Amino acid sequence: MSPDELKPLVRTIPDFPQPGILFRDITTLIGHGAGFAHSVRHLADRAQAAGAEAVAGMEARGFIFGAAVAARLALPFVPVRKPGKLPVPTLGIDYALEYGQDRLEIDPGAVSPGQRVVIIDDLIATGGTALAATALLRQAGARVDHALFVIDLPDLGGAARLADAGVTVAALMA
Ligand code: PRP
Ligand code: HPA
Repeated sequence: MSPDELKPLVRTIPDFPQPGILFRDITTLIGHGAGFAHSVRHLADRAQAAGAEAVAGMEARGFIFGAAVAARLALPFVPVRKPGKLPVPTLGIDYALEYGQDRLEIDPGAVSPGQRVVIIDDLIATGGTALAATALLRQAGARVDHALFVIDLPDLGGAARLADAGVTVAALMA
C-alpha cells in the first residue's frame, strides 16, 4: 500500500483530548494488518536510507512504530520514556505539548558515542516531543540527524523547528 492508500486508515476525532483539537488517531491504521505492515515498511526504508544504526521511539505511540522498524532492520531500539519508568539513573528533559506539559527520560547507556540514531514517532505536531528526544539523545552522545513520522501536522510547525535543530524530517502523510 502507498502512503496515499494508508492515509484514509487514520481517523480524525474532533475535540480530543481538549476542545478545538482535531486528534489524528492511528488506532485504526495499526488495526489494519496490511496498513500497519506497509507503514512500518515505508518507515524502515527511510530509516535505512538515513543510515540508521539504532532507532529511538517515544512512549507510547512511538514505541509501536519505532520498535517494529528496529526489529525489521535488526537494529537496536532505544525507548525514550515518560518519567519514573526506568530503573537506572536517567537523563531527563521537560517539554511542552500541544495540549499540556510532560517529561522524557532515557538511559544514557542505551546509545553509544557517535551512534546514528533515527527518531520515529506516530505524529509530529509542535515538535516539542521530538526536539526533547533529540536533545536527550545528543546529550547521551548520539548523532541525531533524521526523524521519521507517520503523520506530520505542518500547520503546527514541528518539522520546521526540527530542521532549525539540524534534524531532517520525513513523514508518510500530512
Ligand atoms: C503525541 C504523539 C507525539 C507527540 C506529538 O504523544 O504521539 O509523541 O504527542 O506532539 P508534539 O509534536 O506537539 O510534541 P503524547 O504525548 O500524546 O503521548 P502518547 O504517545 O502516550 O499518546
Ligand atoms: N493527534 C494525535 N496526536 C497528537 C496530536 C493530534 O492532533 N497532537 C499532538 N499529538
